[in-house]
Amino acid sequence: MAVLLLFWSQICYAASDASLSLPRTIQLPEVYCGEIIPYTIEGRNTSAETIEISKIKTSCGCTSAELKNKIIPAGNAFSIKGEMNTNQRLGDLKKSVRVYEKDRRSPYFIQLVGKTKSFPREHLPIEGKNMFVGQCAVCHVNQGVNMMGQQLYLADCAMCHGIFREGISAKPLSLEKMNAFDIPSLHKQISSGVNIHNHAFAEEEGGPLKEKQILSLVKTLRHKTVKRSTLSTVTGQSLYLNLCSSCHGSRKTGPIGPELGVQKMKKMSREKIISILTEGLPGTVMSSFHSDKKGVLTKGEIEMLSDYLQGRLTSRRRSP
Ligand code: HEC
Ligand code: HEC
Ligand code: HEC
Repeated sequence: MAVLLLFWSQICYAASDASLSLPRTIQLPEVYCGEIIPYTIEGRNTSAETIEISKIKTSCGCTSAELKNKIIPAGNAFSIKGEMNTNQRLGDLKKSVRVYEKDRRSPYFIQLVGKTKSFPREHLPIEGKNMFVGQCAVCHVNQGVNMMGQQLYLADCAMCHGIFREGISAKPLSLEKMNAFDIPSLHKQISSGVNIHNHAFAEEEGGPLKEKQILSLVKTLRHKTVKRSTLSTVTGQSLYLNLCSSCHGSRKTGPIGPELGVQKMKKMSREKIISILTEGLPGTVMSSFHSDKKGVLTKGEIEMLSDYLQGRLTSRRRSP
């Protein structure tokens, strides 16, 4: 019944008491998963009176919606502007914006419809570009938002300095070396950049990180190496969230590392996954996770992770 009523009110508002003319659907452009899509909803007050818009709500924390002036004189046009953050939303997008007119029972619904695709594996051309803006931010900024310490390191720093700080395109950041720096100079290396392009991570310098995030990195770099998990019961999922999600995504949609959805992982053999986790993919960020190499996982844990990725772990298992 409720569904019927809702449906009824939706098809009827345009015909009966609607004072605002608003589109039903906004088609968003297709983007890479993780990009931010700006949108505008154009509306008009088609009634003979001034209308007040009391509030605007969106169906998702990922979507913002703003209207500067909420008082709309008769006949006037207005535009609602917002952004949809597609981080971790791979595939079809369907969100809604509800516009509430003062003293009118039901809101106006506007559907935002779109689609995201995975980043191709080849790196975008870097030449002279700032990695903190535009599409570059999808991997070099957005994955680290609100993260601290080790997770932040994996999301923002590991692509150049290595998952286990072993160094890849940039120098290793070993514990000894980090402790040889005094705290202010280590802080400065991260916040203001070394003598290189693109390394000023502090907000005041145009970078993405807040002061407390930089302090958490200083602390992590000086005191800890990458740990497997802080939980007492180690499961495939807890290992994934701790060690892999900053790059492969909390929903396994990437984008720093490729998408690792169950369907895709089932097409890869168990041996292949175990070998990637044990040997790493040389020449890439994807290091070996085996404790015999530079990693932190036992053979049993690597097997457990690979079963988890292939959706074969039905019950929580203890680490062997
Ligand atoms: C899809 C995720 C992704 C996007 C988007 C991305 N990067 Fe990267 N970036 C990486 C990864 C992963 C690495 C580690 C090296 C590799 O795998 O190619 C990296 C490495 C780098 C490096 C260091 C390696 C080197 O060759 O010097 C720079 C500099 C860089 N990126 C800048 C940028 C800039 C500038 C952009 C935008 C034009 C960008 N990145 C967009 C994921 C990304
Ligand atoms: C795009 C690649 C890239 C990213 C991402 C990156 N760095 Fe660097 N970093 C470098 C390069 C290049 C240097 C210069 C020294 C070298 O060639 O390794 C450097 C130098 C440093 C140094 C000084 C090391 C030394 O021995 O003098 C520290 C500390 C450091 N980075 C920390 C970080 C932290 C923390 C992050 C994450 C917030 C980060 N870096 C992200 C490329 C990167
Ligand atoms: C610092 C970022 C980073 C972390 C952390 C990371 N990976 Fe990766 N991973 C990558 C990148 C980048 C690639 C692609 C390398 C390439 O082929 O260029 C990759 C590739 C893979 C692949 C191969 C996928 C394919 O489609 O070929 C698997 C499987 C994988 N990672 C699993 C994991 C697991 C499990 C963890 C956690 C234990 C993990 N990764 C942690 C960045 C990361």
